[in-house]
Amino acid sequence: MDLSAYSERLRGGAPAKFPADANSLEFAQKLDSQDALSHLRHEFILPTKTSIKKTALDGTLPSTAKTNGTAATNGTSSEDPDVGIYFVGNSLGAQPKAVRKFIDAQLETWASIGVNGHFKTLGNSPLTQWQDMAEDCAKRSADLVGASPSEIVIMNTLTINLHMMMASFYKPDAKRHKIILEWRPFPSDYYAIESQITWHGLDPEKSMVKIEPDESSYMPTEKILATIDAHAEETALLLLPGIQYYSGQLLDMPRITAYARERGIVVGWDLAHAAGNVELKLHDWDVDFACWCTYKYINAGPGAIGGAFVHERHGAVEWNDGADGRPAYRPRLTGWYGGDKSVRFNMDNKFVPTPGAGGYQASNPSALELANLAGALSVFNKTTMRDLRSKALVLTAYAETLLDGILADAGDDTLFRILTPRDPLQRGTQLSVMLREGLLDGVNDALELNGVLCDKRKPGVIRVAPVPLYSRFEDVWRFMQILRGALKV
Ligand SMILES: Cc1ncc(COP(=O)(O)O)c(C=O)c1O
Repeated sequence: MDLSAYSERLRGGAPAKFPADANSLEFAQKLDSQDALSHLRHEFILPTKTSIKKTALDGTLPSTAKTNGTAATNGTSSEDPDVGIYFVGNSLGAQPKAVRKFIDAQLETWASIGVNGHFKTLGNSPLTQWQDMAEDCAKRSADLVGASPSEIVIMNTLTINLHMMMASFYKPDAKRHKIILEWRPFPSDYYAIESQITWHGLDPEKSMVKIEPDESSYMPTEKILATIDAHAEETALLLLPGIQYYSGQLLDMPRITAYARERGIVVGWDLAHAAGNVELKLHDWDVDFACWCTYKYINAGPGAIGGAFVHERHGAVEWNDGADGRPAYRPRLTGWYGGDKSVRFNMDNKFVPTPGAGGYQASNPSALELANLAGALSVFNKTTMRDLRSKALVLTAYAETLLDGILADAGDDTLFRILTPRDPLQRGTQLSVMLREGLLDGVNDALELNGVLCDKRKPGVIRVAPVPLYSRFEDVWRFMQILRGALKV
């Protein structure tokens, strides 16, 4: 079978069934040679074994450091054996080369025409005028989240956007006041939900409903639906992660959304670990709102500007129903940049929201951050989420198969346990691997020594994310050899 046949099997939910010789460099390289997306790796600067030891700036970048100014390609191992293995895109994505180009363009624009950059688009620039940049990034994000550009707003950061959305969508009353969340939300989501409840004068003990996991530490869909049933009459909002950050479980977003909405519950998703990772169809799934960050799978850089989706039904601006000649629109926390561009600068204090998600903006967004994001999204715009997902399914299944091979060769299945669901359709790129107690430090040392970056969580979990934009099957194979060495298998 070839790469496309494996991905078709996995897309149908079947196991990949790699052959007996899958644990070989030759097999990994064969899959790489069949990868139609392999050129995208050259769009990134990946840390090298040398560069990750850097302690002071020296004016060099990893891909040029060894070649004295000639752009090295970060390609196959024969091209540059110093290139590390970057499996931590679930935390911070690798740097796209385009980001530097887009930021340089921004700096030149600002230096050259100053404040006029708000309203003037320079020729030869990859950027639009600053006024239009958030919209440009929304357009570039449409395929990533499955929404029309007018349902996407680029603003703030994830936690702030969760608050902005809850300000508009969490409307507790005496009957419906609960928020259904997961048992182990990312702390920032927990604090945001808890503080919203307190903000409304309610008691988090009574208004937070946590969906408990089963013994494998993930949440079966049936259990989620049963929790919705148990609290449906009293629930105002369901706010869940598209992918759970710890276990890597991908939730059945369309089914859960439909089920909750049929019961009168507003549905929001935190897509921090899903956006740019798996295929999303937020509009078709009829989601009310969603928020995501852009520094993980979207690669816009540390703390980069976030994104939010507001379904078109919540973005309408109706003139007919408004009293006193004022428009009617969904209540929200407002600011001048949510105001429609046609009247934004009237300075008359009569707020008219931009129709769609753009009307939920408050502030003038940072044009430098938007440049990062536009640069990062320009790489996604060279492919599709469908193609990225097809490759990711095989990369992750390959990693899973090689992990299973380590356990089989060790004859000891207590060495580690894969926490992430085995079903390819219930996970994204990431595999969370719980090591036996006492093994983490040794594994950590071996990974660092060999130029591997991946996420480690005490007491013993490593989260391994072979991101399809810049990871090769060869990287997966090499990673597993290093892990074998660390585990003495
Ligand atoms: C699931 C999830 N929620 C919230 C956050 C916090 O995001 P921010 O610091 O951008 O608000 C993160 C950050 O990694 C996250 O993974």
